[in-house]
Amino acid sequence: MGLQVKRLGRTFFAEVRNIDLRSMLGNETVAEIRSAWMEHGVLVFPGQLLTDAQQVAFSLRFGDLEEDLIDPTKFIANLGNLDEDGKLRDPASLKSRFLRANQLWHSDSAYFPAAAKLSFLNGRRIAPDMIGGETQWADMRAAYDELPEASRAAIEGKVAVHDMQTSRAKTGRLLSPEERAKWPPVTHPMVRVHEETGRKALYVGSQATCIVGAGEVESQKLFAELMDFATQDKFVHTHVWREGDLVCWDNRRVVHRQRPFDEAKFPRVVVRTTVRGTGPDVIDGKPVDEYARLKAMAA
Ligand code: OGA
Ligand code: MN
Repeated sequence: MGLQVKRLGRTFFAEVRNIDLRSMLGNETVAEIRSAWMEHGVLVFPGQLLTDAQQVAFSLRFGDLEEDLIDPTKFIANLGNLDEDGKLRDPASLKSRFLRANQLWHSDSAYFPAAAKLSFLNGRRIAPDMIGGETQWADMRAAYDELPEASRAAIEGKVAVHDMQTSRAKTGRLLSPEERAKWPPVTHPMVRVHEETGRKALYVGSQATCIVGAGEVESQKLFAELMDFATQDKFVHTHVWREGDLVCWDNRRVVHRQRPFDEAKFPRVVVRTTVRGTGPDVIDGKPVDEYARLKAMAA
């Protein structure tokens, strides 16, 4: 029997059963997963406690992987709150404060010229009595479709600067000069066209800094309005983690955030692999930087 896919959320969240992701998957199964994903945007596979190697092997079936930000020799990132010795890490540590930006609505790797395509997050250890610590996703495609005409016109063809420093400034852990040099600001269109479905989605998140050709205050006001609209309850799904859940999402369609929890009390180890985007993004056949430059010249 093939995959069992059951929609859980209103528009974009589905649960997939009857598969073991630790095994070698046939091309047909991978194609089935991909098509479920294109339809739903976010999939949860319960009961998949993977090793790093198994998670990397599975993720590689969907494209090239991004290196870990901290250790570029690895294609997997541990976002958990335990230290190497398995003890709860101090919530005031640099790493914990760096990870706190995950609590802001974002799309993964928006700070790269080729922003992430797909993310896979495996719940390796989740305290059974955990309070909080859920992950939420918002459907930016549905939000774009329902956006009032005036807002849609305000963003059409616009390019925004995205910068890791912007989200870190909001969570109080600024980048060091070395980090700043490693991850400089980049640009992306405000409307992201999905390469596979051709559908448009709003592309804004915590790293959005300003619109090319507009001031920062005005830009941030528009970003806040758009995010308020896009994260209304009707566009959001909240996932309560169980150990062994593997959640996969399409960063071209959804934004996500981690809900707060008592990091000094509950172990929560989630591990991520990320399929690299194919960028740089293009508008009207031109790379966005070039497009933005021509627009600025024409204005
Ligand atoms: C991520 C992320 C949120 C969470 O893995 O990219 O933002 O709930 N995680 O852990
Ligand atoms: Mn993330």
